[in-house]
Amino acid sequence: MKIMVTGGAGFIGSAVVRQAIRDGHEVVNVDALTYAACLANLEPVGNAKGYVFEKADICDAPVMQALFDKHKPDAVMHLAAESHVDRSIDGPQAFMQTNIMGTFTLLQAALSYWNAAGRPEGFRFHHISTDEVYGTLGDEGQFSEDTPYAPNSPYSASKAASDHLVRAWGETYGLPFVLTNCSNNYGPYQFPEKLIPVVILNALAGKPIPVYGEGLNVRDWLYVEDHADALLTVLQKGENARTYNIGGENEARNIDIVTMICGLLDELRPKEAPYADQITNVTDRPGHDLRYAIDPERIRTELGWRPSVTLDQGLRKTVEWYLANEDWWRALQERQGVGERLGKVG
Ligand SMILES: NC(=O)c1ccc[n+]([C@@H]2O[C@H](COP(=O)([O-])OP(=O)(O)OC[C@H]3O[C@@H](n4cnc5c(N)ncnc54)[C@H](O)[C@@H]3O)[C@@H](O)[C@H]2O)c1
Repeated sequence: MKIMVTGGAGFIGSAVVRQAIRDGHEVVNVDALTYAACLANLEPVGNAKGYVFEKADICDAPVMQALFDKHKPDAVMHLAAESHVDRSIDGPQAFMQTNIMGTFTLLQAALSYWNAAGRPEGFRFHHISTDEVYGTLGDEGQFSEDTPYAPNSPYSASKAASDHLVRAWGETYGLPFVLTNCSNNYGPYQFPEKLIPVVILNALAGKPIPVYGEGLNVRDWLYVEDHADALLTVLQKGENARTYNIGGENEARNIDIVTMICGLLDELRPKEAPYADQITNVTDRPGHDLRYAIDPERIRTELGWRPSVTLDQGLRKTVEWYLANEDWWRALQERQGVGERLGKVG
């Protein structure tokens, strides 16, 4: 299959590209190379047969149309987005532009291409979204595909809007689509502004390890390569016009994640004092959702997919990867905003 992947130079997109190429697909990677992109993530496939990179902005309608006409993909996997909640609090406009207008622009280009191609039934527009569109949970319960949307941050509101656009283009114009809403990802190549890399890198640098509030927020953590596998499964086996929630079956509080990472570093890169001594509570994020949890019943029963990696295994692999790939993350620490406290408001 020839797949157009948007945002393929980012964290999850690059994992999708690497796996799609390993599985024998052709990939056209469309990415604007924002601050969050890193072409080094694609070194393992850079020279692979069937891999093409196109530097382009999904908000650029003529360019998107030209890319569809040039490459004639069998499917689109749409991951390009502004993705950091803290940045969305300080500067929401870029999130509205890329996540909403960019998705609209891409849908229009895909629709026009699909109509011109005779509306092939096998075509799929796969929109990759987040469980954050469902808002927050209390101590009990899980998000299902029927949970009403109640996004709380500018990021999750922009993703919710994009999900609605994709559904509407399916209902109104018949564009074949699948939609996935996934829990928090972690693993190799995650940009050093997200929780898990921040914890690892601050610990190694001897700096305070910031924990928002009391660290009691719960997330359902999914190893990024399992997410890539789930996405390719949904693309190929998912039913048209259906949503699938993807979770890691690995709920943990932020403070527990941080403590686990400190324990792994004590073992793998020992120093005199335990790394946990560096843990520092900082002002919480405004509107910080307390808990997310995914009910993975649909993807498990209908598509036979389950995560392969437990949180213990995934965190160990992740810490080992950051220890072995210092050149990769050092270069990214120079980028704008990295290492600063963002999204505090006021
Ligand atoms: N990270 C998570 O835990 C998580 C969980 C669920 C869903 N998601 C979704 O998965 C997708 C990928 O997330 P990620 O963490 O890999 O993000 P990321 O920030 O690491 O990567 C985003 C990529 O999109 C590109 N991009 C941004 N704006 C663009 C534009 N206008 N045109 C073309 N390319 C553009 C960037 O250059 C970057 O390479 C996003 O849609 C996000 O909402 C992420």
